[in-house]
Amino acid sequence: MSPAPVSASPADSDLVRAARGLPVSRTPVWFMRQAGRSLPEYRALRAGTAMLAACQDPDLVTEITLQPVRRHQVDAAILFSDIVLPLVVAGVDIEIKPGIGPVVANPVRTVADVDALPDLAPEQLGFLETAVRALVAELGPTPLIGFAGAPFTLATYLIEGGPSKEHARTKAFMYAEPEAWARLLERLSRSAATFLRAQVDSGASAVQLFDSWAGVLSAADYAERVLPHSRAVFDGLGERDVPRIHFGVGTGELLPLIGDAGADVVGVDWRLPLDEAARRVGPGRSLQGNLDPAVLLADRDTVEREVRRIVRQAEAARGHIFNLGHGVLPDTDPDVLTRVAALVHELTAE
Ligand code: CP3
Repeated sequence: MSPAPVSASPADSDLVRAARGLPVSRTPVWFMRQAGRSLPEYRALRAGTAMLAACQDPDLVTEITLQPVRRHQVDAAILFSDIVLPLVVAGVDIEIKPGIGPVVANPVRTVADVDALPDLAPEQLGFLETAVRALVAELGPTPLIGFAGAPFTLATYLIEGGPSKEHARTKAFMYAEPEAWARLLERLSRSAATFLRAQVDSGASAVQLFDSWAGVLSAADYAERVLPHSRAVFDGLGERDVPRIHFGVGTGELLPLIGDAGADVVGVDWRLPLDEAARRVGPGRSLQGNLDPAVLLADRDTVEREVRRIVRQAEAARGHIFNLGHGVLPDTDPDVLTRVAALVHELTAE
């Protein structure tokens, strides 16, 4: 395959350099959910295999992860997996229903439910290590991003039993059972750290912690009841020298805190321009984002105008990794993604 970046090694790639605030040959680009239903080759490969089974098949994981890199010439691969996978591997009964998302057979509703959750053992992740090693060998100089779901976002699925808008049960549990809440988030932070360590120790060059739904919290609640557990995930990486990206949706009011949890890069959704995000995050961190995924469904001129605006506003940041503000929508024309990656490269080449 033809690698997009010009670096000799993933550790010296534009993605890793941008994450650290070092000079780059051009702004690196990747897309959250770049692997998946927007690609016909993905749908063909996935046909007949359930999502969570596919995530545990090293050959499928490797091939699906590589598909968008080949097609779009993006500057990073992201492991094909899911945030609920560590729970599934540990033995929690979860299914990903097409068009719905993760559905938990026995939601966590009591203190006893929290204490009954199984722990994830590193020995259960052999399939993941196999996939990551194969990927790193195939990718050459292109970095692989490992990821995990942050404790809060995973807790929302466990407590609600599935996707939810208000996350009311989650918040009610957080307020009513503060000690059990802390134990739940501690457990989830341990399994997220185990999941990330397996990926980094097998060769991933960067990690992203997805706290997709943290934006439903006030800054005070986030700081007191969530941030320490997300920080514990990053701390669980110890001295491993890989950049850490921390992402959530609707986190405008939380941005300084999201950085403080231990990130080199703060992921920003489309609600806030990147120059304002840079002011809120402060000088010591890079930014990732923030094209509205819905813009990819609009006309060509709009897409181009929005990409140019984001590249311009990102000049206020220490470093910039171009991405969407959230995941690729299934109806997206993959050729538009390819064009966006090429345009960002063209606009930012030295
Ligand atoms: O970004 C990537 O391409 C890497 C793979 C990846 C997936 N899920 C694959 C997936 C990543 C990084 C995730 C993370 C994830 N999973 C998050 C955090 C990011 C975000 O979007 O906020 C969340 C909240 C989940 C939980 C989840 N899994 C949801 C809400 C869904 C969508 C359900 C649906 O069908 O609409 C999934 C399923 C899922 N995860 C798919 C993929 C490719 C679709 C499954 C399919 O194709 O059948």
